[in-house]
Amino acid sequence: ALPGVGVFGTGITAKLMIHLLKTSGFRIEALWGRTEDEAKELASLLDIPFSTCSIDDVLLNQNVDLVCINCPPFLHSQIAVKTLGIGKNVLCERPAGLDQDDTTRMLKAALYYPSLMSLMTYHLRFLPTFMEMKQQVGDGNIGELLVVEVRVHSGVSLNINYNWSHDSKMGGGVLTNLGGHFVDIVNFVSGQRAVKVHGFVTTFQKQTAKVSGFREVTSDDFCTFQMKMDQGACCTCVLNNNIPGKFSYEVLFIGTSACLIVKDGVLLRQSRVSGNSAAVQEIITKDCQDTPEGLETIFPSEVLAQIPVPLCQGTSEFINSLKSSFQVQNDRRNWNKTILDRAATFEDALYVQTVLESIRRSSQTSDWEKVAHIEQKPMNKDTLLQSINSVSS
Ligand SMILES: *[C@@H]1O[C@H](CO)[C@@H](O)[C@H](O)[C@H]1NC(C)=O
Ligand SMILES: *[C@@H]1O[C@H](CO)[C@@H](O)[C@H](O)[C@H]1NC(C)=O
Repeated sequence: ALPGVGVFGTGITAKLMIHLLKTSGFRIEALWGRTEDEAKELASLLDIPFSTCSIDDVLLNQNVDLVCINCPPFLHSQIAVKTLGIGKNVLCERPAGLDQDDTTRMLKAALYYPSLMSLMTYHLRFLPTFMEMKQQVGDGNIGELLVVEVRVHSGVSLNINYNWSHDSKMGGGVLTNLGGHFVDIVNFVSGQRAVKVHGFVTTFQKQTAKVSGFREVTSDDFCTFQMKMDQGACCTCVLNNNIPGKFSYEVLFIGTSACLIVKDGVLLRQSRVSGNSAAVQEIITKDCQDTPEGLETIFPSEVLAQIPVPLCQGTSEFINSLKSSFQVQNDRRNWNKTILDRAATFEDALYVQTVLESIRRSSQTSDWEKVAHIEQKPMNKDTLLQSINSVSS
């Protein structure tokens, strides 16, 4: 049976999540907003039976079995930990809190309640192109992995009043909000994790039409970083939000014998042998590139035009899997873990958070920074808890 869902947040990602869940047949039972009015307004627009500005009223609502956290990042950790404590399943939008301490608390709660769902919305993992890329890299089809290149261009400039999203300390910026997805996908595809990083993070557009005068945008709109990975590969990444137009991205995995490229939803393969002949690229697979249906009914066209379609598609694919993981169960809180085994966990979230923090630190020191890892394998609860404690102490 499908669980009843409680959603935290009234912003774009919350609306998107609600729409996609509803389309897929989930019931949204409760909505939380910063103010009573904000929650009420969106609830009536999206036909949600209960709305509130009290966190507990959603968590304790008897019809809510699954909680989606899409509110401002400073609340993510607190709500995730509380949800698990109450015995309900949780899906958390990126970032997993404001810093490593926030994420560590979430991970501890997740490890304490291992039978509950605790997943992050790093949904690029659910796109067919990245799944196939992972398979091919894992099967050794490109030889030994040498270099990964990531380029992400966007021009998001929502004309909104001053918000957490304008503030780097409150979870705003391209590094956190887009970079996190790609740090995760590089780890997902390669199976390698960063051990050292070097980064440069800055803000070019400090004012907007609605944020001007004494207030400034501090969240980054440009970032570049390098990662040295634990099995020898290098990765370099550029995130640039100063390019008006459609969201676009390219991820290259270059191995000793071939390279794989995911470019705007298309996976290509190019051989590296026979140096002089013109490079032939062969298309291996494509993602669906359509904007999910019905979004035009909840977003004005200028907002819709700025929503990255690949992230929506990833979320749609994730929700399909989420649905099948609940469908054949006899209880609304039971789910089949195997079906969601490629989803990002809070452990993945802590890895991403740690890398992002190291990149920011490097941008300040202008030096390579070590990524202080928690031990991952074996994924045994006690060793993991032990190593979290040693890192956070
Ligand atoms: C910014 O804040 C306003 C008012 O609190 C809210 O309605 C809006 O959804 C927020 N925007 C984002 C991107 O969170
Ligand atoms: C869970 O899903 C997998 C993959 O679809 C299936 O093989 C398995 O039998 C399912 N397990 C349960 C307990 O339903």
